[in-house]
Amino acid sequence: MNDLLRSLVEAYGPSGFEDALRDLIRPLVEPHADDISVDAMGNLLVHKSTAAAGALKVMIAAHIDEIGVMATHITEKGFLRFTNIGGVMPHTLLGNRVRFADGTIGVIGVDHSDDRGAIQPLSKHFIDVGATGREDCPVRVGDAAGFDRAFVARGNYLTAKSMDDRIGCYVAIEALRRLPADVPHDVTFVFSVQEEVGTRGAEAAANRILPDVGIALDVTRTGDVPEAKAMSVSLGDGPAIKVRDSGMIAHAGLVRLMRRRAEEAGIRYQMEVLDGGSTDARSMQVAGPGCAAGCISIPCRYVHSPSETVDSRDVEGCIQLLVALLSGSIDL
Ligand code: CO
Ligand code: ZN
Repeated sequence: MNDLLRSLVEAYGPSGFEDALRDLIRPLVEPHADDISVDAMGNLLVHKSTAAAGALKVMIAAHIDEIGVMATHITEKGFLRFTNIGGVMPHTLLGNRVRFADGTIGVIGVDHSDDRGAIQPLSKHFIDVGATGREDCPVRVGDAAGFDRAFVARGNYLTAKSMDDRIGCYVAIEALRRLPADVPHDVTFVFSVQEEVGTRGAEAAANRILPDVGIALDVTRTGDVPEAKAMSVSLGDGPAIKVRDSGMIAHAGLVRLMRRRAEEAGIRYQMEVLDGGSTDARSMQVAGPGCAAGCISIPCRYVHSPSETVDSRDVEGCIQLLVALLSGSIDL
C-alpha cells in the first residue's frame, strides 16, 4: 500500500496543474477500464460499462489536485510574493517548503512584526527560492507550487501533505482493481481536477456523465484531538458515511444503503456530520437534472496542513465499502 500511496502524495499537483497525477494514475487504472479519456479541463474519466439492462449510471469522484500557492510578484531581490490556491491557512506557512513544477524548492518566510504571537496574513509572507534578483529567479509570475513534505508511516497512521485527496484517489484505484468484471452498473470513476478551488472539475464531469448516483471519496475532519471542535468522527473507527456538510445533504436512501452494505459486510463505520467544507459530491448532486449524491469520507487529522494524517484501517474500510456498494444492486 505505502509505495503507491507515497508516489501519489509526494507528487506535484496544485489545482489547475494536475498533469503529473494524471500521468501517474492512468497506467494503473487502464487495465480495469472499458474506456478511458481526459476531458478539456483535465479530469481523467475511467469507464466500466455493463450489459445489464436498465443499469444505473454511477459516478465516483476523487480529486487529484491539492492546495498550493501561486507567485504573484517577484521582488528586486528575488523573493516571491504569492497568493493561495485553495484553503491555505496562514499559520501553516512560516518555515514550510513549497515545490514548483520544475522542482525548484522554496522556503516560506514572513515580514517582521513586533507582535510575534500574531498570525500574519498570507500577503505578509514571501517565498525564498535562493535567488538574488529577478534575473536569476527560476520562478515566473503565475507559476504554481505545491507544499513539499515527505510521506511517513507511523504504525497505522499515515501522514503526508496531500492526503486530501490522494487518499481518495488511492481508494478509487484499489476499488477498481478489486471490483468484479461484471459490475451491474454503468460506472465512471472520475479523477477530478480543481476541487480545492470549488469542485470545478467534478462539476464539468458530472454535467457530461449525468449520473443517477454520485459518490465522492474525500477526507473529512475528526473530533479526536485535544480541544477539537466537537465532531463524532475519529481516526480508526472506520469509513465515515457523510450525512451532511455545508455544501450538501446526502441522499437519505443512499446513506441508508451505505449503512446496510457496511453492516452486511461487517465493515466498521461511523456517521459524519461536517460543520463546514464540501466535496465533489456537491457538484454531482446539482449537475444536470440532479442525482442521488453521497460521500464516503476518510477521517483525517490536520486537514490542509503539511501533515494530514489518516489511519490505514479506515482506508481499507473505505475500499471495502465502495466495492460492496458497487458490486450489489443500488435500490434507493
Ligand atoms: Co481540501
Ligand atoms: Zn479534498
